[in-house]
Amino acid sequence: MSKFEFSKPGNFLYPLPAVIVTCGKTGGEMNMITIAWTGTVCSDPPMVYISVRKERYSYHMLKETGEFVINLPSEDMTYALDKAGCTTGAKIDKFKELKLTPAKSFKVSAPAIAEAPVCIECKVKQILELGTHDMFLAEVVSVSVEDKFLDEKGVFHMDRCNLVAYEHGAYRKLSDTLGKFGYSVRKKK
Ligand SMILES: Cc1cc2nc3c(=O)[nH]c(=O)nc-3n(C[C@H](O)[C@H](O)[C@H](O)COP(=O)(O)O)c2cc1C
Repeated sequence: MSKFEFSKPGNFLYPLPAVIVTCGKTGGEMNMITIAWTGTVCSDPPMVYISVRKERYSYHMLKETGEFVINLPSEDMTYALDKAGCTTGAKIDKFKELKLTPAKSFKVSAPAIAEAPVCIECKVKQILELGTHDMFLAEVVSVSVEDKFLDEKGVFHMDRCNLVAYEHGAYRKLSDTLGKFGYSVRKKK
């Protein structure tokens, strides 16, 4: 098999989630920013990161409050996901413009997005200056989900949330399940 090597290395780790991060204070100055450079970095304590350019309007809010919420968008929020990443809170109120409702969070003063099926509340532990982006390493302090995705036994079904994947510039639907964790080593009955 032959491989083509790009002349310049770049960011090719896809697919990944593109999320809407909310920041500021519920009822006060608030904003939202679309972020693709995000991920999980530790299971216990549960920790995540978001990488943000200093020139983003959201940057100082994130740095000053040390709190944010990662809102996972459903397919019907794709337009808002894109627009929150192509407009600035310095000029418009994105909540109003995108018809998204700020909701009080459980453990942080940053707002969540009421319409998002999954909201991950985070407290910043460290900020690493990496280059173009600063990485906000944060601990997850609360996770809430829309209760319609819980079944009668209280089990959460993430597959019913219709979450969106981001792949090299494109927003994509998640397709069918290919297997489940550990299926390759599970004994056949
Ligand atoms: C799909 C997508 C992913 C993005 N990912 C990031 C990111 O990871 N980090 C970042 O600093 N900006 C990212 N941006 C750009 C910001 O969302 C954009 O500059 C936004 O307008 C900033 O909003 P603000 O000025 O209100 O903070 C992304 C934009 C899009 C559309």
